[in-house]
Amino acid sequence: MDGLQNYLELSADIPGWTRGVEAQALVRFCSAQPDDAVIVEIGAFFGSGSVLLGGACKVKNSGQVHCVDPFDGSGDPVSVRHYEAIIMAYAGKTQRERFDGNIRRAGLSEWVHAHQGTAVEVAEHWNTPVDLLFLDGDQSPDGARLAYEAWSPWLKVGGILALHNSDPRDYEMGHDGHYQLTQTVVVEPHYEILELNGTTTYARKRR
Ligand SMILES: C[S@@+](CC[C@H](N)C(=O)[O-])C[C@H]1O[C@@H](n2cnc3c(N)ncnc32)[C@H](O)[C@@H]1O
Repeated sequence: MDGLQNYLELSADIPGWTRGVEAQALVRFCSAQPDDAVIVEIGAFFGSGSVLLGGACKVKNSGQVHCVDPFDGSGDPVSVRHYEAIIMAYAGKTQRERFDGNIRRAGLSEWVHAHQGTAVEVAEHWNTPVDLLFLDGDQSPDGARLAYEAWSPWLKVGGILALHNSDPRDYEMGHDGHYQLTQTVVVEPHYEILELNGTTTYARKRR
């Protein structure tokens, strides 16, 4: 766990939303992917989750991480005010510069690749089957559904879907998009629900 612990600590130093047991679970699922796995993170912000995923690939010496984000602080209205506060606190560089710098400092530039644009925009040019899909972009019901519809066809049968913010709880209005996915489309028999870890649901695509 030594190498992985290093990336858990680097990730925790970057403003982000995947912490503690959730960070450990994301690393665990990423590490368990087959050789040369294709990992996609929708919604990367400053790269905190990306460092977890890229670090797991680097320790294993296999796999590539693709991070999709407009890098402009946009998203659902509930989230945007949190993004704006962080971006202002880290003024002086663009969000993309923060992301690139964090990935470079973590020594992960060969493992993590940014695709600037929304989930739907980037999916229009995507052409590679995906082993692990981490959905953590627009959290609104419409935004989450659009990202899911654009990317889930690329998830391999047997591949893992990770849905952040999808545990059953009271959500602010318009912020329960991933939870709604677990109640509508990410369900048996299409998916095998593997575990709920913190707020993140892990499900294996069955068909
Ligand atoms: C919650 S943050 C991501 C956190 C990161 N995954 C982590 O583990 O710390 C969500 C990010 O998704 C971005 N985003 C918003 N709408 C998006 C969309 N339609 N497609 C892709 N990313 C989006 C936001 O701008 C923000 O940078």
